[in-house]
Amino acid sequence: MKSILIIDDEISICEFLKNALQYAGYYVEYTQDPMEGLEKLILSDYAILFLDIQMPDMNGLDLLKKIREKNIDIMVLIITAHGNIENAIAAIKLGAFDLIEKPLDREKILVSIRNALEQQKLLQENREFKKSILASENIIGESKVIKNIIYTIERVAKTESRVLITGENGTGKELVAKAIHRLSSRADKPFVQVNCDAIYSELIDSELFGHESGPFTNTVEKRFGKFELADEGTLFLDEICDMSLHAQSKILRTIEEGVIERVGGNEKIKIDVRILAAAKKDLQYEIQQKNFREDLFHRLNVIPIHVPPLRERREDIPLLIEHFTNEICNKNKFPIKKFSDGAVSKLQSMPWKGNVRELRNIIERIVIMIPSEEIQEEDINELLPQSKSELDEIINKSNTFQEFKEKAEKSFIIKQLEANNWNISKTADILGIQRSHLYNKMKKYGIDKE
Ligand SMILES: Nc1ncnc2c1ncn2[C@@H]1O[C@H](COP(=O)(O)OP(=O)(O)OP(=O)(O)O)[C@@H](O)[C@H]1O
Ligand SMILES: [Mg+2]
Repeated sequence: MKSILIIDDEISICEFLKNALQYAGYYVEYTQDPMEGLEKLILSDYAILFLDIQMPDMNGLDLLKKIREKNIDIMVLIITAHGNIENAIAAIKLGAFDLIEKPLDREKILVSIRNALEQQKLLQENREFKKSILASENIIGESKVIKNIIYTIERVAKTESRVLITGENGTGKELVAKAIHRLSSRADKPFVQVNCDAIYSELIDSELFGHESGPFTNTVEKRFGKFELADEGTLFLDEICDMSLHAQSKILRTIEEGVIERVGGNEKIKIDVRILAAAKKDLQYEIQQKNFREDLFHRLNVIPIHVPPLRERREDIPLLIEHFTNEICNKNKFPIKKFSDGAVSKLQSMPWKGNVRELRNIIERIVIMIPSEEIQEEDINELLPQSKSELDEIINKSNTFQEFKEKAEKSFIIKQLEANNWNISKTADILGIQRSHLYNKMKKYGIDKE
């Protein structure tokens, strides 16, 4: 039952409201003494307060100020004489939800209470949502390397230094970038992400620097680029290896000069952005291959943060399992589930090629598919990706030594191609064979990117 407090010096008003509201199913208390009312608000948990403005001991607006100073979370409905606009404005400025004019009208009051409770529910949900977003943006882990990463993030966040975050797919690079922004003095300014691999090279200039409208750019509307959108905030350049050399040189110039020019414009616009970048490929190799500018690399790599793959920090897995399980159970309104020790060990021993992202997806699948509250090792075996090793499969399916060698060779080549993003020259280099030789093998085994 929702509780309501009334603070009014006129006993007849208190009694009228108490009767009407009790009849409508609320728990109601009243007091004619404002200070006693404040004490009640501090000690008990009311949903709604009816507050009179004109009282002999204390003005209702002053009491409202005190309620706000003490951060008491309550919806306030002000009782006021008809037509007192000044008081009404002052009360709304102090965060009162609604005004109840005298003489009191029972129906109007009940509608106002319902609206206030509805609004309160929305505000609460919004707060919970924000809290859950913050929790889901936390970097979880207790391995030495994760602790070191968190320490580095805390130190660099306060500075203006550029940071280059490297690591395989799904290791948490974006999470690191967002944490740096959140802990920086730019936190309440924008965090703008550019997925460099997803932009057509012809569009990159306009994407990054914006364009002016007019016949030259063949556009009707002026457009702000990512650099301008991130002004005073943080620009996160994701997958920088996939940026064209043309875009690399433009970014280098922008970093050096601190100004941009919109496409089709000739004005130099000063911008203040902090740049964070991420890459999953080996940048040194890309520099050697002349795919990435060395000078830009040094500009971006002032503070390097490498996030290692999950298989190299298996001690983080139990905490991550607990974190994702709680998050998924809360999201789906399930009772909080647990993984048995056996189930945790099983998950700890998996290869996790897709790193934390893959672990999270599998936990979600398990938590949704297994109805029991304690999840056992036997429950999850079927839901795990290829529990058997690939080598076991090859051995089982080969009838001759020749067949085994060929299957193993095919599987090894595919793995290397995937690891090198299907870059044939690089894969051939790493395998120590000629490009043409690799092509022949791919043809022989029918290996194709799709
Ligand atoms: N240490 C961690 N604690 C909690 N959640 C994590 C952690 N690392 C990664 N995650 C979660 O795993 C998922 C993948 O993380 P993220 O997107 O940051 O990875 P990424 O390295 O940017 O991946 P990609 O290379 O594919 O872009 C996200 O849902 C993220 O919240
Ligand atoms: Mg990412």
